[in-house]
Amino acid sequence: MKKEQKRLQDKVAVVTGASSGIGRGIALAMGREGAGVVINYHGHQESAEEVKQLIEAAGGQAVTLRADVGQEADAQLLIDTAIGHFGRLDILINNAGIQRDAAFLEMTLEQWQKVIDTNLTGPFLCARAAAREFVKQGVQPERSKAAGNIIFISSVHDVIPWAGHANYTAAKGGVQMLMKTLAQELAKYKIRVNGISPGAIKTHINQQDWELEEGRKKMLSQIPYGRIGNPEDIANVAVWLATDEADYVTGATIYVDGGMTLYPSFGE
Ligand code: BGC
Repeated sequence: MKKEQKRLQDKVAVVTGASSGIGRGIALAMGREGAGVVINYHGHQESAEEVKQLIEAAGGQAVTLRADVGQEADAQLLIDTAIGHFGRLDILINNAGIQRDAAFLEMTLEQWQKVIDTNLTGPFLCARAAAREFVKQGVQPERSKAAGNIIFISSVHDVIPWAGHANYTAAKGGVQMLMKTLAQELAKYKIRVNGISPGAIKTHINQQDWELEEGRKKMLSQIPYGRIGNPEDIANVAVWLATDEADYVTGATIYVDGGMTLYPSFGE
């Protein structure tokens, strides 16, 4: 019997911030769909190793790499690791992100800078390193219609202002225009560039908001579809965007948010 072709068979993906949350979900899904995965982490080596083991247990291939995406040499090392270990690169998932929340009047330059470094400069550095590689590789029609795929994991807060999170919203708004500009600029190389903007996805980043009843209620009141999302909700879309099924999609942001961006307070 012919083995069913997996959707990302023999592709190679770098997933930043893949030791937990949405990045973990995307790494697992891409591994399951046949991609070799570079699992990037910053602080949590054990969690990254666990993701690798899960991918391998499901018959996939993965390698872990500690790197700070906001550092130029580290971002390059991520892409070099994909080439060194798997021989090529097809997909970059710019996922790594942090929050350092503070009321604006109290926000320190350090809080501002840290979030800009990881959430905006990191995606820039990784995208640049990946795009250079994609241009070098070119289109190989037997593999894919595109020379490469870059997917930015942004946030609904690239359009929804969020008091107490000026550093985060500024970075995500920046990611939105970075994504669109790259899509425009790199299309001639057949590099597709897109964004996924998640709403409230249940991960450690917002644990303090969903773990208590009161916070959960507030969160749900902002989500017309009536449930908090899972990393798999995002991973499903990321896998699709990375396949040739999405070949005519570039420069798009897909809001995967249960309707959070629909101004739910106007729904009554
Ligand atoms: C933030 C989460 C928040 C969600 C919806 C995300 O970008 O990281 O903390 O729950 O947006 O507001």
